[in-house]
Amino acid sequence: MWNNVEAAPADPILGLTEAFKSDSRADKVNLGVGVYQDKEGCTPVLDAVKQAEKILLENETTKSYMPISGATAYAAEVQKMIFGVESNRAATVHTPGGTGALRLAGELFKDFSSKTVWVSNPTWANHKNIFAAAGLSIKEYPYYCPATKALDEEAFFAALETVPAGDCVLLHVCCHNPTGVDLSVDQWNRVAKLAVDKGWTALLDFAYQGFSVSIEADRAGAEAFLASGADFMVASSFSKNFGLYRERTGALTVVGTNTDAAAVAMSHMKRNARVLWSNPPAHGGQIVTTILQNRELSQLWVSELGAMHDRIAQTRAALADGLAERGVAMDCSFMTAQKGMFSFSGLTKEQVHFLKEEKAIYIVDSGRINVAGLTSGNLDRVCNAVAEAMSR
Ligand code: LMR
Repeated sequence: MWNNVEAAPADPILGLTEAFKSDSRADKVNLGVGVYQDKEGCTPVLDAVKQAEKILLENETTKSYMPISGATAYAAEVQKMIFGVESNRAATVHTPGGTGALRLAGELFKDFSSKTVWVSNPTWANHKNIFAAAGLSIKEYPYYCPATKALDEEAFFAALETVPAGDCVLLHVCCHNPTGVDLSVDQWNRVAKLAVDKGWTALLDFAYQGFSVSIEADRAGAEAFLASGADFMVASSFSKNFGLYRERTGALTVVGTNTDAAAVAMSHMKRNARVLWSNPPAHGGQIVTTILQNRELSQLWVSELGAMHDRIAQTRAALADGLAERGVAMDCSFMTAQKGMFSFSGLTKEQVHFLKEEKAIYIVDSGRINVAGLTSGNLDRVCNAVAEAMSR
């Protein structure tokens, strides 16, 4: 079967981790995949998660199947997390990670929309593949202006004005991946109004809640859409903010015009989920639910998330300062304005290649640096190498 088949290309992000692991150079640094690392370069299990797991271990009574849609308690906690309140216009299904949520949304769009999804230019490397696999055509809207290193506001809104009714528009709620450039509350209100006026459906990708400003402030985009009365969806991931990467813990929330519409949406989500993965993996969702239902664990989790947020902010500043001290021509102050784990550095593909081949520093081809991978042990070396790459 495989003799005449060409090998598939490596994944631009997770493939980079594979290459990194097989690199034998002792001083190698992985700034590719968006995974938080502490100042020792470890990705720890959060204390709140460990404590929740202890509770689960003591109290779990079965490993029988989950309902197709997941546990109702999890769905309730997801809605409270993303909107601040539960909504009777919303239906939430537990999915294997944010990727599962996006794919499930893709299936719904394939069945009930124009089959066209608009993504930002640039966007997360996996978005287009997920929607193409669901049978959708993909269009791009302008988002990032390389010259100002900020939102290309005029082009962004002009493009959203032209999106036909029935199309879908994918938006990143906060910590835009890869640029770290987010919309303001006013801009979110404008986008939500446009969606209602033009009749397109937003899919909000919400993978970094708590990494921009705070759990509450970061939900501005989701709140704007809920208040607008629009039909929309939210793809949640708890990989980053609960550090549950490998537990594949996500959710798709569909918001309709009323409770009946939400029930219809739920029936189609269940039909599709049953075909895609039958029912969700329980462990991660149980951890999230246990933490969010317990005041002490919630407080501990919020403080641990805050510590991750603060370390990334300090590291951003250290990177920008380190490059400025080395006299790079580029004004790096934009790096501290970007939100989330990533710095969209402006490094070219050639410079990224140089860093990998010559310096054993791994960065995504787009020039996206995972700032959370920088530590006091590697920061100087990375600043030297990036400054050298920029001067080439
Ligand atoms: C990333 O963008 O690096 C993360 O979302 C991990 C992934 O799955 O690509």
